[in-house]
Amino acid sequence: MFPHKKRRKEAAAPPGPVAPPVLFPDVWIFLVERRMGAARRGFLTSLAQRKGFCVAPEFSGAVTHVVSEQNSFTDVLSWIERKTGKPMQSAADQTSPHILDIGWFTESMSLGKPATVEARHRLGILGSQMCEDRAALPSVAPYACQRQTPLTHPNSEITDALEMLGKAAALQGSEVRSLAFARAASVIKSLPIKLRSANEAKNLVWCGGHCQAVIQEILEDGTCHEVEELKVSEQYRCMELLTSVFGVGVRTAERWYKDGVRKLSDLEELNIKLTADQRAGIEHYADLKQPVTLEEAERVQHLIKDALCRFVPDLTITMTGGFRRGKQQGHDVDFLITHPDQESLSGVLEKAVDWMDSQGLLLYHHTKVRSHVHAPRRSTHMDGHETCYAIFALPNCDTGRSECEAGAPGATHSDLASPGAHTWRAVRVDLVVTPHDEYPFALLGWTGSKHFERELRRFSWHEKNLSLNSHGLYDTEQDCSIPATSEEEIFALLGLQYVPPPYRNA
Ligand code: UTP
Ligand code: MN
Repeated sequence: MFPHKKRRKEAAAPPGPVAPPVLFPDVWIFLVERRMGAARRGFLTSLAQRKGFCVAPEFSGAVTHVVSEQNSFTDVLSWIERKTGKPMQSAADQTSPHILDIGWFTESMSLGKPATVEARHRLGILGSQMCEDRAALPSVAPYACQRQTPLTHPNSEITDALEMLGKAAALQGSEVRSLAFARAASVIKSLPIKLRSANEAKNLVWCGGHCQAVIQEILEDGTCHEVEELKVSEQYRCMELLTSVFGVGVRTAERWYKDGVRKLSDLEELNIKLTADQRAGIEHYADLKQPVTLEEAERVQHLIKDALCRFVPDLTITMTGGFRRGKQQGHDVDFLITHPDQESLSGVLEKAVDWMDSQGLLLYHHTKVRSHVHAPRRSTHMDGHETCYAIFALPNCDTGRSECEAGAPGATHSDLASPGAHTWRAVRVDLVVTPHDEYPFALLGWTGSKHFERELRRFSWHEKNLSLNSHGLYDTEQDCSIPATSEEEIFALLGLQYVPPPYRNA
């Protein structure tokens, strides 16, 4: 199956890469793969080796520094015990070997030498003991990009309420109040334990006055009166309905509300002029309001891979957005498309979109051409990638096996035209094309969450005087961009600990 390799003559073999010199022979690092993953462990291993550190491939008595990510002290100990089959001593101030959090590693890499081990580097004894000790909640870093925020957490009643109040503020045009609620919700999402009283939250960053009252009400009554009022408010319900239509923002919804629109059918009755995307959004509203499942997202991926690879076979196509953060459903599916060779990227999206359209796979599409030219003067949400905003006709999976394989080459969907036979469902899809050198920045920017991105940009600007967007990182004083080849490198350049996608659910 494999092509036969011609054996080069020994003499002609090029010299192998020279191993970097060992600068710290007394330090042997062992990286725990659990929760870190093999790929990241490999990346960190070569980073450390390049900087002259020894990294042990297996755990042994020679290891001096055990480094792990998102594990507790006891997690690491039992993991090592399982791997080696030998019991370990388990003192929290363990020094041989040191059981450390990734923070020690990151600090050592930026120092260019092993950081002196301090109490803050050691893994705490988490788990049950932490839940019993209610003297204080763990301290929470002020920026969401400095924290780990998993998808699920034990305080969702509180964060749902805060997020709803934040949404109501945004729908009323108050960005400042909306942001305040979003920040408080995000802090509470990062807590590993259930809050028992508002008092416990009083020292948490961004969780002042109004949020305190909301937390107290939820914990004491199970509901928050402001949220209950919103649920029955005609204006809130109507604004939420209108802004949930594809192509409708807060300003448009406000205008329609003032014009007397209360339900979608009013738009026609009141003769409201619609844009093409809004028309498509209303036509497919019932489908689009149903969350897209991971299984459906994977079928969309199959379709677009097939379409794009007809024109350029070796494109990199990555699913981003909420699904990359581990969500099981979303409001749309987001994809990034790139290739090391810029020539290959030119025109490929247009060709693939035209082909999919000819196959009846698209119900609506609109492509925005690339607009990014210069580095911005300051942090901005501007995103100038070539992007296709589309509504796909995703063939149903329950209408027979052949439909499930609709991504197979040559599949056509002539039933699209007949409204009676609804063998597909409408799904919102964003396709984004990015030059190869901007790919890590686009990947970081399109993985979200929106709040995590907002905080990353705010952190870069206010703490590092650097401007970050989904095209690059810019030093505005030196007027130059700072390249990076991976998300890990961008975090490192910002002096931040790496936050893997499942922990960016801020
Ligand atoms: P989404 O709005 O798709 O959010 O944007 P999501 O997290 O995937 O959530 P659901 O599941 O679809 O509801 C994904 C990321 O892409 C960025 C957003 O900031 C977010 O972080 N984005 C989106 C852009 O950078 N530019 C855009 O034009 C749209
Ligand atoms: Mn999305």
